[in-house]
Amino acid sequence: MSKRIAVLGAGPSGLAQLRAFQSAQAAGEDIPEIVCFEKQSNWGGLWNYTWRTGLDQHGEPVHGSMYRYLWSNGPKEGLEFADYSFDEHFGKQIASYPPRAVLFDYIQGRVEKAGVRDWIRFETAVRCVEKTGNTFSVTAYNLPEDRTYTEEFDHVIVCTGHFSTPNVPHFDGFESFQGRVLHAHDFRDAMEFKDKDILIVGTSYSAEDIGSQCWKYGAKSITISHRTAAMGHEWPDNWTEVTLLTHVDGSTAHFNDGTSRDVDAVILCTGYRHHYPFLPDTLRLKTENRLATADLYKGVVYVHEPSLFYIGMQDQWFTFNMFDAQAWWARDVIMGRIPLPDKTAMQADVAERIVRENEGKDDYDAIWYQGDYIKELISETDYPSFDVEGACKIFKEWKAHKKQGIMSFRDHGYTSVITGTKAPKHHTPWKDALDDSLEVYLEN
Ligand SMILES: Cc1cc2nc3c(=O)[nH]c(=O)nc-3n(C[C@H](O)[C@H](O)[C@H](O)COP(=O)(O)OP(=O)(O)OC[C@H]3O[C@@H](n4cnc5c(N)ncnc54)[C@H](O)[C@@H]3O)c2cc1C
Ligand SMILES: NC(=O)c1ccc[n+]([C@@H]2O[C@H](COP(=O)([O-])OP(=O)(O)OC[C@H]3O[C@@H](n4cnc5c(N)ncnc54)[C@H](OP(=O)(O)O)[C@@H]3O)[C@@H](O)[C@H]2O)c1
Repeated sequence: MSKRIAVLGAGPSGLAQLRAFQSAQAAGEDIPEIVCFEKQSNWGGLWNYTWRTGLDQHGEPVHGSMYRYLWSNGPKEGLEFADYSFDEHFGKQIASYPPRAVLFDYIQGRVEKAGVRDWIRFETAVRCVEKTGNTFSVTAYNLPEDRTYTEEFDHVIVCTGHFSTPNVPHFDGFESFQGRVLHAHDFRDAMEFKDKDILIVGTSYSAEDIGSQCWKYGAKSITISHRTAAMGHEWPDNWTEVTLLTHVDGSTAHFNDGTSRDVDAVILCTGYRHHYPFLPDTLRLKTENRLATADLYKGVVYVHEPSLFYIGMQDQWFTFNMFDAQAWWARDVIMGRIPLPDKTAMQADVAERIVRENEGKDDYDAIWYQGDYIKELISETDYPSFDVEGACKIFKEWKAHKKQGIMSFRDHGYTSVITGTKAPKHHTPWKDALDDSLEVYLEN
């Protein structure tokens, strides 16, 4: 096949795309030439931990938003690759909420086995993508060599993630606040906040998890400020949920119910922005962080330029297995196995998905919505079928366990929908497990 494909990013989505093509090749198919551009020096995307914040050694914005001591916030049984189980990778079943290093190892294991590392140009940032005639011109910058070049591709698949460019609101008084103000994107080590009074703005996963980490590693108090609604968990005694921050004055934070508190640091857990600075307006996805993205047919094909694909751009209950479902599907469109309808039909598909998502009442509907989406995609490709319904039920159990104990939900284990084996209970309760290294985690 003479086609050339550019895959932008070698995080879990980009790696899913490489594995999708490699699996077709392993089955004897003639596949296109694949070039994956990755600006970091290793694969894994957000899972490739960096201590750096701000700009990296080349002056590029640091991609990493993950922090030390991060453990999976959902059960691993909800994200397991259908073609590469945890049992296969570790040679045994492991506990259900692996720390970052363990999940990185797992992600890496599958692509090492597939032998696709040579397809990736590391330390190469994509600067510009343009559609010129029938092809895309991709301009890339080799960071260590300080060299820019342009190559032509038939298709571009954007896998650059959307949890790296922080959404940073302003609150009056930040200019003269007497402590530290940072966004979750720049949070790295909870030990920095030991014995400190911290204020967190936001109520989603970053707020919950960064607050929990700071509590685990000895923060004096945690105050969580909400714009819409409190999280409402049964928090430890030194936690308080308050209404929205209005302003800070010196080191005092004021809230819109008239209350105030003195704090040492403010951590803005206020989410991320879809940001694709290398794409012109005509190719750039503009969407909210939601399950049914704007302008993506089947959540994957850019309706205004259907030779352009996006992987992993949805808000995420499911992650790795959803990226796989999308990557296998995109591969089959590119390889001519799945025909695309006309633009009107693609736009109708986008509109219908948005309506259906909007009809959902709660998180459970959202989980099943995304589960049904995965089922739909994998039914159209040769991605190994798996019990998606079972995975949805695991997420339901996970939510129940969080209600039972927000600091103990990670002590539960679930049954793999891929191998049918039950995860062992971890040897140490999460709140006491201060060493999150791979070696210690695998001691089970
Ligand atoms: C703090 C945090 C914790 C999370 N925890 C979990 C969890 O516990 N479980 C879970 O399943 N999911 C979690 N997620 C969700 C996460 O989005 C996915 O797990 C996954 O990393 C998404 O993969 P991706 O490949 O789409 O994006 P990313 O992981 O963001 O990878 C994108 C890649 O593209 C590269 N790139 C970006 N721009 C360019 C460019 N211009 N040129 C070249 N390369 C570029 C980046 O360097 C990066 O390697 C978490 C997210 C965050 C922010
Ligand atoms: N351990 C882990 O695995 C872990 C840890 C952290 C994050 N993550 C992942 O990271 C991803 C991103 O999560 P996230 O929590 O960073 O982002 P998010 O889910 O998009 O949530 C953003 C939060 O910011 C609030 N917000 C936005 N603008 C605001 C403003 N101007 N003022 C006040 N509040 C504002 C929102 O409040 P409203 O509700 O009012 O809109 C919401 O609570 C998720 O996929 C999550 O699973 C995982």
